[in-house]
Amino acid sequence: MLELLPPPPTDPLWDLTYEFGSDERPERLNLVLGVYRDQTGTTPVMAAVREAEMRLAERSESKEYRGLSGNAAFNRSLLDLVLGPQGPADRAAAVQTVAGSGALRLLADLICRTRPGTTVWISDPAYVNHRPILEAAGLQVRTYGWRDAEGGFDTAGVLRELREARRDDVVLLQGCCHNPTGVDPLLDDWEALADSAVRGGWVPFVDLAYHGLGDGLEADLLATRMLAARVPEMLIAVSCSKNFGLYSDRVGCAIVLGSSARAVRHAETALQNAARTLYSMPPEHGAAVVTTILEDQGLRAAWRAELDVMRSRIMANRADLTVHLSALGCAEQARSLARQKGMFSMLPLTAPQMLQLRRQYAVYGTTSGRINIAGIPAHRIPGLARGIAGVLGAADTARAVRTA
Ligand SMILES: Cc1ncc(COP(=O)(O)O)c(C=O)c1O
Repeated sequence: MLELLPPPPTDPLWDLTYEFGSDERPERLNLVLGVYRDQTGTTPVMAAVREAEMRLAERSESKEYRGLSGNAAFNRSLLDLVLGPQGPADRAAAVQTVAGSGALRLLADLICRTRPGTTVWISDPAYVNHRPILEAAGLQVRTYGWRDAEGGFDTAGVLRELREARRDDVVLLQGCCHNPTGVDPLLDDWEALADSAVRGGWVPFVDLAYHGLGDGLEADLLATRMLAARVPEMLIAVSCSKNFGLYSDRVGCAIVLGSSARAVRHAETALQNAARTLYSMPPEHGAAVVTTILEDQGLRAAWRAELDVMRSRIMANRADLTVHLSALGCAEQARSLARQKGMFSMLPLTAPQMLQLRRQYAVYGTTSGRINIAGIPAHRIPGLARGIAGVLGAADTARAVRTA
């Protein structure tokens, strides 16, 4: 049977990661995957997570099956965290998922069960896995642009394109720290998007993967909360991978907001059914860790403080790269980089230039120009800037200017 299988496509990000693994140059720098790295280049277990794990080990509760929605206390904590204490929790339900990807997939299944062949609009460019997940669930995908010619959020363009969205189409929006561009709408832009959803009848589907790593936890959740207060129906995929550093524990949840208790109950059951046929129920450990942190005031405060340290490091890295690029004659590129937020930045480099960066300077980013700002050790920033400037052909110009 397996002989019949044609060569399947492989994942471009993991292909690059494997290529990096076999690169023997000592100066190689992996900026492909979206993981936070500290000054020593490691992705640390957060102290709050370690403490929660110790408490869980001491308590050593039963490992009996949980319900189909996973850990109920986790779901309540995440509803409270995402929607806020004043949020519309009375018309919402949350189902624990296998991280953010699992939430995206379960919600895509829910859309398909509700209305097969629904069109979901995603940004161009988008998170590399948005289209594959939606298409695998049987949905139609259309795109809307994201950035304007100056590299900022294209408010007018996005609103114009979304005027074509039909009633009950779904629009996937990243709640903060847009992957891959790092370009986010301002709050006024979000209000305009909410107006567009209310007027056009399209359903916002918010992907939250980086809250806490842009402007701060509450600020990063503002747009999602505002949308939740304004639209009758909404879907939210939440990941705990980045902001709790729980990448491999696979923790997240799918949230649905409906206009009636009955619709929300049905949606929750449909999500449970989708999970049941995929993996039955999600793993407990990471969800128990997150719940332990969020339910304990002291641990919660410690986690938030650590998250702020991570965010500050990302901001410092971006600022430093900007300064070095400017000094090397790339002021324009530096300016657009400075406006971006979160773990990623888009370098103004073409696919061949990204390949040159990899071959000549051992710097691995995606072919679309995305680099993980959170993955750069501070002492490597001057070298990275030299590589970028070199590829842009600007380094020589800058040297000539300085020595003139
Ligand atoms: C925008 C976005 N959504 C969702 C995910 C999925 O994250 P995970 O499944 O690891 O929680 C990612 C991961 O990089 C992402 O960037």
